[in-house]
Amino acid sequence: MNTKNNKNNINNLNNTNNINNLKDITDIKDFFANGNIPVALAPMAGCADRAFREICMEFGASFCVGELCSAKGVSLNDKKSEELLFVSEKERPMGTQLFGSDTDALKIAAQKALKYNPSFLDINMGCPAPKVISSGGGSALLKNPQKAAETVKALKKVLNNKIPLTCKIRIGYDQNSINAVFFAKELEKAGADMITVHGRTKDQMYRPGINFNEIKNVKQALKIPVIANGDITDGATAKYMLDKTGADGIMIGRAALGNPFIFKEVKAYLKGENYIKPKNSQKAEILIYQAEKMLKYKDPHNALLEIRKHAAWYIKGIKNAAFLRQKCFNINSLNDVKEIAFIFSKSE
Ligand SMILES: Cc1cc2nc3c(=O)[nH]c(=O)nc-3n(C[C@H](O)[C@H](O)[C@H](O)COP(=O)(O)O)c2cc1C
Repeated sequence: MNTKNNKNNINNLNNTNNINNLKDITDIKDFFANGNIPVALAPMAGCADRAFREICMEFGASFCVGELCSAKGVSLNDKKSEELLFVSEKERPMGTQLFGSDTDALKIAAQKALKYNPSFLDINMGCPAPKVISSGGGSALLKNPQKAAETVKALKKVLNNKIPLTCKIRIGYDQNSINAVFFAKELEKAGADMITVHGRTKDQMYRPGINFNEIKNVKQALKIPVIANGDITDGATAKYMLDKTGADGIMIGRAALGNPFIFKEVKAYLKGENYIKPKNSQKAEILIYQAEKMLKYKDPHNALLEIRKHAAWYIKGIKNAAFLRQKCFNINSLNDVKEIAFIFSKSE
């Protein structure tokens, strides 16, 4: 893989993807101006880091949300937590996401988040991870709508209309307690500016079976915009989600991993435009581009460990992937990434 080629492709990437006409927002309505249907990158802790978010934005994601950040950690001056609040110019519009249930900690964290000038602040009310739930945050809030609404009210005061406040929820805690409509209405009453609904219960984790109907019920019950999320993997599933739910926008998570091109693909599909899928050589260039960014932004040791899984996602689907996948899990340098990219690019 030669560097000159790499540079050219990155330039092409920039040229062909100037479809992000939005540099940032001043109001949540900006996302929907002129009938725009936002196609956003979902927050994914440990995966959708700054490098990946910037690339997804270059490929046309309408906005992105940062990795969930512990309000408690930030309030206790934990350096690693505070690092998650950083917002780069290239990833705007970007929302910073906090989790927690301690109102004082959330207020301190929101105040600190403002220093980094995010486009909006998002509160996680859907994470099923035990360490998040045990703090009373994430999905645990689904069981406590009053607490969730109080959190929104308290944070709206901190934000003082400087930036919008949004919430990301699931449809309920389990199959017997689906309460997304009531829950979302309480958040709206408390002042939330937009709600993203992941169409699963907490108990479902990531198992198949999106409840489109419940997302639709939330959309119909609210005046504020609703973003639909869950199992969107291409243009057709994006349109299906929009048609089924009537949502104002969509958010894509796992299908973007190793495939940041998806934002361009989905936007083209929704506009009825032609879309040519990237060749493996183009994917290989972006893999290197991402690895370089990760090495620039992170501690090199961690960056190399993390690029292993991203590399495996990029090569997914090629014939005889086992050999190359093995190489991905042994990445120890940028050269290793380049070698994989080279083999991958020749395997059309
Ligand atoms: C590895 C991983 C990390 C995630 N981290 C977060 C997070 O930090 N905050 C959050 O709100 N959701 C998080 N999610 C949930 C996603 O944002 C999204 O709601 C979920 O994956 C469903 O969308 P998808 O089917 O398009 O992936 C995470 C999901 C995955 C797979």
